[in-house]
Amino acid sequence: MKPKIAVYPGSYDPLTNGHIDIIERGLKIFDKIVVATLHNPQKKGLFTIEERMDILKETFEDHKGIEVDYFEGLLVDYLRKKDIRTVVRGLRAISDFEIEFQMALMNRSIEPDCETIFLVPSVNYSFVSSRLVKEIYQLGGEIKDMIPPVVDRKLKEKFKVTSY
Ligand code: PNS
Repeated sequence: MKPKIAVYPGSYDPLTNGHIDIIERGLKIFDKIVVATLHNPQKKGLFTIEERMDILKETFEDHKGIEVDYFEGLLVDYLRKKDIRTVVRGLRAISDFEIEFQMALMNRSIEPDCETIFLVPSVNYSFVSSRLVKEIYQLGGEIKDMIPPVVDRKLKEKFKVTSY
């Protein structure tokens, strides 16, 4: 039987425990999840694509069910290239729903075979976003429980103050 594979696309700027929670839930349904990052021109990035890939690879390196990748251009073109038609996205709150619903329908109108599966994260992460993680970290707040150790390290490196 053909393995069940889905793409979980996202900016991952940076990866959070909320993303990891969705991936773990996805692996209960799919044999493999392709975690695919990209530079989203709608968002000002903190980490480069190479840095995001390094974080993803370090986090999932020993996991056979997870492939880490990046793409440019349309998600549906990437899906066609990979011969995958299923997308996983996380739904944290009603506020996510409108844009996610629109993207799912838009992707399906361009590629009729494209299906989007929405997974709901643990309530512990339902308020976690990459944007807030970055903001709170930069303002000196505690976010250790919301990110994997590698992201904590990379954030420290990124905001290292050089003393003369
Ligand atoms: O983590 P994000 O930034 O919320 O992820 C958004 C993402 C990557 C899923 C979306 O921006 C996307 O699919 N971008 C690729 C370009 C594309 O296909 N745009 C049309 C979407 S309907």
